Amino acid sequence: MKTTVTDSSSDAASQIKAGGIVAFPTETVYGLGADAFDESAIEKIFIAKQRPADNPLIVHIANLDQVEHLAADITTSACKFFERFFPGPLTVVVKKSARVPNIITAGLDTVGIRMPRNQIARDFLGACETPVAAPSANLSGRPSPTTWQAVLEDLDGRIDCILRGNPTDIGLESTVVDCTTDEPVLLRTGAISLKILRTIVPETRELDCDEGGRVFGSPGLRHRHYSPQATVILIDSRSTVDNTEQSAYIGGSDRTEQFSLKKICATPEQYAHDLFEFFRECDRLQIRTVYCEKASREGIGAALMDRLQRAAQK
Ligand code: TXA
Ligand code: MG
Repeated sequence: MKTTVTDSSSDAASQIKAGGIVAFPTETVYGLGADAFDESAIEKIFIAKQRPADNPLIVHIANLDQVEHLAADITTSACKFFERFFPGPLTVVVKKSARVPNIITAGLDTVGIRMPRNQIARDFLGACETPVAAPSANLSGRPSPTTWQAVLEDLDGRIDCILRGNPTDIGLESTVVDCTTDEPVLLRTGAISLKILRTIVPETRELDCDEGGRVFGSPGLRHRHYSPQATVILIDSRSTVDNTEQSAYIGGSDRTEQFSLKKICATPEQYAHDLFEFFRECDRLQIRTVYCEKASREGIGAALMDRLQRAAQK
């Protein structure tokens, strides 16, 4: 398959209408979309990404009118989150309507809905005239793509089209909140923190741990994620590092050791923005060990620490 790269939202949308799969920018990470009501197009997403079939896809919408085709029941909490955070980096899980194919939801009776705020995404989704199911546009197991070039690196020849945009603003995936009950549950942290969600629905809670003390959240978080090939080690600003050969460092404070690759991030937002592309650069340079400085769990720091800890799990 030849993968075309376009700057035209309407060209990209016409590929969706023709049953194709198209990568597009959002404010979080790039997504890989297909018409949510076209099962054979959705199947192509799973094949292109080599994604396990038990991991459901988020459905992206251009306007709130599309919700009625997707949701069977909209709780008060879901409604409040739609009003406050759509468009934005939040995915709201609700009971699915019969029209939503089971392949999207991995057999669950719920569906994740998100309305991106990135302007190119909005133009594209509007032009598609149908909800668009889209996971992140990476090969399964690799860090989510934050640039169109990273999409090409993973999926060239495997997808129909890439809608080109700027590097993504936030750099980490959306917050996922389950609103099927009146006590919403945070399944994945993102730029919209638990604290911010609670300003709208104070009952929102974190997921309970399983017996092993693990917190999985969304089904997809059971799979290995966000990691470069290298071993990832989390460090404090004061800890010392001996072996810096073929090693890389990313964090908020500068270090005196010599690394093959080093990135100092001025703010937690910058750290979140740069992290996945940094992991990809480490892979390109065949870095063996990546040292990542821990972040404080304030604001985006909670999501950043979540992704760092998952990357450090082998
Ligand atoms: O920011 C984002 O969310 C990006 C952009 C493209 O929108 N998308 C994204 O998709 O990160 P993906 O597939 O990589 O991650 C979706 C997460 C997975 O962990 C999946 O298990 C969870 O959302 N999810 C989807 N539908 C769900 C559902 N019905 N119930 C629980 N979790 C769900
Ligand atoms: Mg993903």
